[in-house]
Amino acid sequence: MRIGILGTGHLAAYLVRGAQGSGYSFLLSPRGAAIAADLAERFGCEVAASNQEVVDSCQHVLVCLPAATGLDDLRGLRFRAGQSVLSAMAGAGLEDLRAAVAPAEGFVGMMPGYANAYSAGPSLLHPASDDWREFLSALGPVHQIAAPEEYQTAAVFGAMSGATVFLIRHLAEWYARHGLDPATARQLVAETLRGNAEVFLQSPEGMEAISAGVTTPGGITEQLVGHLHRTGALTAWDDALDAVLARMYPGR
Ligand SMILES: NC(=O)c1ccc[n+]([C@@H]2O[C@H](COP(=O)([O-])OP(=O)(O)OC[C@H]3O[C@@H](n4cnc5c(N)ncnc54)[C@H](OP(=O)(O)O)[C@@H]3O)[C@@H](O)[C@H]2O)c1
Repeated sequence: MRIGILGTGHLAAYLVRGAQGSGYSFLLSPRGAAIAADLAERFGCEVAASNQEVVDSCQHVLVCLPAATGLDDLRGLRFRAGQSVLSAMAGAGLEDLRAAVAPAEGFVGMMPGYANAYSAGPSLLHPASDDWREFLSALGPVHQIAAPEEYQTAAVFGAMSGATVFLIRHLAEWYARHGLDPATARQLVAETLRGNAEVFLQSPEGMEAISAGVTTPGGITEQLVGHLHRTGALTAWDDALDAVLARMYPGR
């Protein structure tokens, strides 16, 4: 299947890279010319002469335009019945997207980006779509969410994902500052988070039992987590997630 991509930037590059070997080809919009040229050379992507050419040439269109201006850009293009458009733009609501691309069908999604280049990033899809689920499955696990508010809440994970990149970096830098070889520090932190993620994915135990199991009474985990609680470091995540949800979906 050929997919047209509007917005040839970082996200587009990650998704094209992750989808290699899964049978998809891509027609890219021309802006972001350096990335488009690189994707053409490395992965055989075609580059269109205009955004409208992307829309005219593809049944399936993936929108990776800047969130602030993308809906306006879409309103200026002519879509046709039978086309299917998936927007990955943060905060683009389904109804606004559908109005912008009518009479094409519209879907919204969210993903981490870079992790999808390694086919290891989860994607959200709302509402369900067999074609887009199959495409996103090449890039990691897919969660189709039917209820609009549930999707909006889940979509905040796009920001959470980026923040965990900064968390990993912050922690790795602490170890390096205290004398650990920086490459070992980076690996150690990433491996630790990946290992604990595996526990949550594989263990049948509840979250409370898992937490209790790794916390020796009076031990160093209890000390570290207690400090984070007392200084508001953990509840700061709640405030930040609330703020992102309200920005992405005003009124939430
Ligand atoms: N980065 C991620 O990992 C990630 C993850 C999930 C969702 N997203 C979403 O993906 C979207 C793109 O993010 P990004 O990080 O990839 O941004 P980016 O690197 O800035 O890429 C955006 C691309 O869109 C191009 N563009 C801007 N206006 C255009 C127009 N009218 N027509 C055609 N192309 C246009 C830009 O070209 P110029 O360089 O010429 O301006 C640039 O190449 C955002 O809505 C974001 O919320 C990103």
